[in-house]
Amino acid sequence: MHPCVVIIFSLLLLCLETTSANQLAAVEGGDDNGGVNRCFEKEKDALLHFKSLLQDPSDRLSMWTAEQDNCCEWSGVTCNNQTGHVTDLDLMLFGLVGEISHSLVNLTYLNHLDLHYNSFHGNIPVIIGSLTQLRHLDLGGNNLNGPIPRSIGSLTRLRSLYLGYNNLNGTIPTIIGSLTQLRYLDLGGNNLNGTIPRSIGSLTRLRSLYLGYNNLNGTIPRSIGSLTELKYLDLSSNSLYGTIPPELGNLTNLELLSLSYAGMCRLENLEWLSPLSHLEVLEMDGISLAKTNHWVDVILSLPKLWLLSLDGCELSQVMYPYSSSFLNSSSSSSIVDLSLRNNSLTSSMYRWLFPLTSNKLHILDLSRNMLDGIPKYLGNLCSLEHFYFYNNFGVIKFPDFLNNLSGCTSLSLQRLSASGSQFTGSLPDDIQKFTSLTHLILYENQLKGTISKKLWELPNLKILDLSESSLHGFPSSDYMSNRSHIESIQLSSCKLGPHFPKWIQELKNLTSLDIANNGISDTIPLEFWDSWPSRLTFLNLSSNNISGKVPDLSSNFDSNSVIDLSSNRFDGPITNVSSTVALLNLSRNKFSGGISFLCQVVHGFLVILDLSHNFLSGQLPDCLWHFKELQVLNLEHNNLSGRLPASLGSMINLEALDLYKNNFSEEFPLSVKNCTSLKSLNLGANKFSGNLPVWIGESLSGLYVLTLRSNNFSGSIPLQLCQLASLQILDLSVNHFHGRIPSCLSNLTIMVQQGFSQLQNLDPNNPLIRYSYNVDHVMIQWQGSEREFIRSNMKLLRSIDLSSNNLTGEIPYQITNLDQLIALNLSMNALFGKIPWNISEMKNLLTLDLSRNKFSGEIPSTMSQMSLLNDLDVSFNNLSGRIPSSTQLQSFDPSRYEGNLGLCGPPLTKKCSGDEQSGIQHIIGESEGEGIDELQGWFYIGGAIGFTVGFWIACGALLLNRRGRFAFFMFLDSFEDWVYVKVVVFIANLKKRRT
Ligand SMILES: *[C@@H]1O[C@H](CO)[C@@H](O)[C@H](O)[C@H]1NC(C)=O
Ligand SMILES: *[C@@H]1O[C@H](CO)[C@@H](O)[C@H](O)[C@H]1NC(C)=O
Repeated sequence: MHPCVVIIFSLLLLCLETTSANQLAAVEGGDDNGGVNRCFEKEKDALLHFKSLLQDPSDRLSMWTAEQDNCCEWSGVTCNNQTGHVTDLDLMLFGLVGEISHSLVNLTYLNHLDLHYNSFHGNIPVIIGSLTQLRHLDLGGNNLNGPIPRSIGSLTRLRSLYLGYNNLNGTIPTIIGSLTQLRYLDLGGNNLNGTIPRSIGSLTRLRSLYLGYNNLNGTIPRSIGSLTELKYLDLSSNSLYGTIPPELGNLTNLELLSLSYAGMCRLENLEWLSPLSHLEVLEMDGISLAKTNHWVDVILSLPKLWLLSLDGCELSQVMYPYSSSFLNSSSSSSIVDLSLRNNSLTSSMYRWLFPLTSNKLHILDLSRNMLDGIPKYLGNLCSLEHFYFYNNFGVIKFPDFLNNLSGCTSLSLQRLSASGSQFTGSLPDDIQKFTSLTHLILYENQLKGTISKKLWELPNLKILDLSESSLHGFPSSDYMSNRSHIESIQLSSCKLGPHFPKWIQELKNLTSLDIANNGISDTIPLEFWDSWPSRLTFLNLSSNNISGKVPDLSSNFDSNSVIDLSSNRFDGPITNVSSTVALLNLSRNKFSGGISFLCQVVHGFLVILDLSHNFLSGQLPDCLWHFKELQVLNLEHNNLSGRLPASLGSMINLEALDLYKNNFSEEFPLSVKNCTSLKSLNLGANKFSGNLPVWIGESLSGLYVLTLRSNNFSGSIPLQLCQLASLQILDLSVNHFHGRIPSCLSNLTIMVQQGFSQLQNLDPNNPLIRYSYNVDHVMIQWQGSEREFIRSNMKLLRSIDLSSNNLTGEIPYQITNLDQLIALNLSMNALFGKIPWNISEMKNLLTLDLSRNKFSGEIPSTMSQMSLLNDLDVSFNNLSGRIPSSTQLQSFDPSRYEGNLGLCGPPLTKKCSGDEQSGIQHIIGESEGEGIDELQGWFYIGGAIGFTVGFWIACGALLLNRRGRFAFFMFLDSFEDWVYVKVVVFIANLKKRRT
């Protein structure tokens, strides 16, 4: 909701400004050239050159040709009707692609240049500064990069400057302060850094200043307080710090103020807000209000405020949220949309919430707090339509909760979202009072008992989500006829089984159904598929025990739909699939036969196709030309065979190709060369043979997983592999590679960079995001057994496995540069020489296997410093000398050292010469104690996070706004991995301590 407000304001401004600028343009003119609307040759040439640098896929510039004499009549061009000079160039939304030509410099009389919402790239040309007549300059919504040229300071007549939503970087030039005529300035949504120049205070006529969504740092300059005409000020989502200057209180015309996530900004009080009597929208999410006593009084003094968003403001820490006089005042707020999410609030907050709520309130968000109930007055808000109460941690009886809402709120409430809380009890008859209810979202609670039949009688109910609850009493089919208003039913992990819930068939307008993991062991009645409406967009029947055939599904699904039938016992051939499906997951069933059904897909909507773990056989058909959108193709664990077809190369968006455990054969598939978006390629456990092509390094430069294990590849490891700068997992094990280990492996950049790799996730606007699919994953040999890593916990994993080949030579010493490497397996080769002395520089190694080679010499004593190492195997080499002392190295099983005749000392029983009298030395690794403490900390955090992760991933959070949810997952992704890896180490260490 909040981002929308900003966008609507911006659009509004844009329209206003466009009209006023046009009027200005019309007034302009003067130097009499006689010609009415003729076109100057020089300007025409400039326009033609401008066009020559552009692609124009929508043909909007088709008139722009040398033959069309009068350039004043060209689309988007306006000339002054007295002088004939080009004054306006208005190409907004023309779909143009290309660079902005320098020839613009010859449009000397231009006063309106609008290129908004195209795909211009490259820099903003410096010559823009010579268009000194410009009043309106709009280059927003393109892909421009580079800095804002300082020459912009010459455009002193500018009234509006829009450069927002590009990729501009660098700082905001100080000279911007000379544009004193500016009314509108929009630099938001770029990558600008540096400080906000103080000179911005000279722009005293500014009405709108939008600097949000950049990386601006430094403090908010006090000089902004001189912009007294300002109506809209947005500094949100930056990295600012310091005190928010109380001078903002001088901006008495302000209508919108957004400081959400502006940075680590401090606030001592909110008194300065009181004079802003025109303020309608106030967003301060993520800014601590912990010290702002009496903030409620201030908010109540703002007569026009309708949107207040204070998410994550530490409101629970405010000592005195309101003054004593406040208790007597009868002032009531005008707020329509109030969000107080994520503030650790307890129910004592209801004292000060009361005056902030009124019959004007439409939206109330109290989610992510510690509330253990609601007061009765929330049931008397006669306009409340949306009430968000998810993720509250107090135990609440749901019948009481409903009862407290059952004043006039029950008539207005449309959306109740209270998932992930601690509601207990049943879904009582009281629900019938909520006649306006369209969305009832209660997944992940502790609800038990019967569902009142009245629920299904609610005349407007569209979306119901009771996933992960223990409610029973689902209706019979008879009862459900005529319930055509219901559009979405989400009941995953409930207790619907063992029979297929036939009543679902009666819901003729259902577009989304999730009954995954319900213990259904049944076949699906044919009528279910037959009577299905064709508008279905989401069907999840996964993780049940459903058997039988799946009929032709080609007509049942709407565009961009998601079908998940995975982990059931469906069998028979896969017949036909709708071309409109975006995600099809039939994995872990008993489907058999060929996959030629793919050839019937003629439009390319499919984004994810998972047919893994079935009994599919035959070849991959050569008809993949239509799969242009496909990002994930998973066919692992089937019986597919033969050569990979050439049409595979048409999947230009393919990011993950997984063919693990099939019988594919012949050379490394040439067709893959064209799949330049590939990030994860798994050809393991097949019968591929021949050399590795050298083009891998160049063509597949985005690869982060390359798994070729268990094939018949031969030849040497091509040096070009070292160009894969993002490669995190390289598994060439169990093949016939020979020759040396390329020393250039030390160039695998990601393995020497600290922190998380920048794995890209699917586009957040993709409908599939709401559905938690493990987009890709990798099976690796991890400490002796096969382990699955999914994309989210892959971020920290960096592993090289070259084991079971015929590699010879020494370990190149450069390889110790790979200090972020976590697992290295070189076992079962013919490597010789010494273990590199500085191997301890690979300080993040958790597992190192050098066994069954011909290494000689001593185990480097520096290895005793590798405190994270929890799995080491050097058995069956020619190593000699004493095993260096550290708890780490002595804690491994003696078998990890066996087969080295010259090795001695603990944990081997063989004593080294000279040890007899002195006994066993035991040196504890220096850093170990400290390390364990840190890990312990991580472990506890891990416990807490585990809980949250579980409940988020379980049901797919349907209700949250998309942006919020995506950010949350991004955060968890990175956090969870750290925890994960750390916990593995911690547990391993604990075990060792005990033994
Ligand atoms: C020229 O422009 C002026 C100002 O917009 C307008 O009033 C007038 O009608 C125009 N003349 C012609 C011939 O289009
Ligand atoms: C501007 O026009 C002059 C004269 O027609 C021409 O020589 C020059 O190349 C033009 N400049 C650009 C940058 O196109």
